[in-house]
Amino acid sequence: MQFEELLGELTRRMTDGAFINATISQPRTKTDELKRVKVKPVEIKGQLHIQFEYQYERILKHDNVTPDELQGHLQQLLERFKQLHAEFSDEKVHVQLSKKFKVMWKSDKVNSGKVADLSHNRKKNYLLDENTPYPFLVRLGVQTADGKVKKQKHDKFRQINRFVEFIDDSLAHLPKDRTVRILDFGSGKSYLTFALYHYLRIEKGLDIKVTGLDLKKEVIEECSSIAQDLGYDQLEFLVGDINDYNEETSVDMVVTLHACDVATDMALARAVKWGAKVILSVPCCQHELFSQIKSPALDVMLQHGLIKERFAALATDSIRAELLSLVGYEAQLLEFIDMEHTPKNVLIRAYLTGQQPSAADVTRYKEFRNLLNADPFLERELGDLLNQ
Ligand SMILES: C[S@@+](CC[C@H](N)C(=O)[O-])C[C@H]1O[C@@H](n2cnc3c(N)ncnc32)[C@H](O)[C@@H]1O
Repeated sequence: MQFEELLGELTRRMTDGAFINATISQPRTKTDELKRVKVKPVEIKGQLHIQFEYQYERILKHDNVTPDELQGHLQQLLERFKQLHAEFSDEKVHVQLSKKFKVMWKSDKVNSGKVADLSHNRKKNYLLDENTPYPFLVRLGVQTADGKVKKQKHDKFRQINRFVEFIDDSLAHLPKDRTVRILDFGSGKSYLTFALYHYLRIEKGLDIKVTGLDLKKEVIEECSSIAQDLGYDQLEFLVGDINDYNEETSVDMVVTLHACDVATDMALARAVKWGAKVILSVPCCQHELFSQIKSPALDVMLQHGLIKERFAALATDSIRAELLSLVGYEAQLLEFIDMEHTPKNVLIRAYLTGQQPSAADVTRYKEFRNLLNADPFLERELGDLLNQ
């Protein structure tokens, strides 16, 4: 089989209804940062798409392509990788590509009875259904009383759904034998806090207690009254500063959505000190490093204000993830929502593992921070833990 024939055959088979999933692996270049790609069919707005999950060392990225775009995508990837395993409902296929793109195709007939679960994927993409009225979304003005998402609230609805998806993925990390304690720092109008409560308490029936904390008294009063009206008796809202919040000794999950600048770091530091098992944080307006960064080696970039601002934001989040991994978390930076919907699209997800860093990990971090001349707030906050 020629390379072009392989692309045609895979494209046909991945779109004819029998495709379950595939893994593309073995990068041709050892230094390739993209390590593996998972592929599966999904249904988006009633149309078949093929979803690519790009697994970088620390980051996952997703891309959904239409059947028409599939062959081009496969070509780009198979020019970069040497191996593909694919599962279809009646066959398992193993493809190995040589240096010169010679194709070795092996297949085994199977009778697994498996079928691609597109409806599951659809449901996973939209954990909150677009046409079901949810009392909290109606009350917060995202949906009309009959469940239609209001025109100007589509982005918010997507954002909420995406966050709920991340919460759903984190369920396995939460305790099951006691009340799960959850804090939302900088909860503001609290779309997320209500969504989280709805999903975990009402839909999943979990024993939880959730607190939303924010500086703004009026907003908190409004949220408290909505929670009361909805009968959400394990959801409370408090006025306060994250940095002064010392009410708890242990918290299981800390979330933040667009908490401004170092408010995110304050929340991360609190979460670490409490030993939170799950941290989900979408930062916003990362200014701290912008005024600190000084690095002649990077002047080609840093001389441009726009680039410096973006670089500072990316460096800040990288530093946050690195610090979390140095204090016992498995931390990843993930795409929160497509760039077209909001530029604030990085989500820090960290699960507590308790794993100790190696000396090389610590050195790697320090070298990066020194290169930038940075003195990050989070490092100062975590000082004691980092020194242990
Ligand atoms: C951009 S809003 C986001 C609100 C909400 N999480 C959302 O996504 O809709 C940021 C919120 O963080 C709050 N905030 C900022 N610094 C804070 C601090 N130190 N303590 C508590 N809340 C803070 C602000 O009052 C504001 O409501």
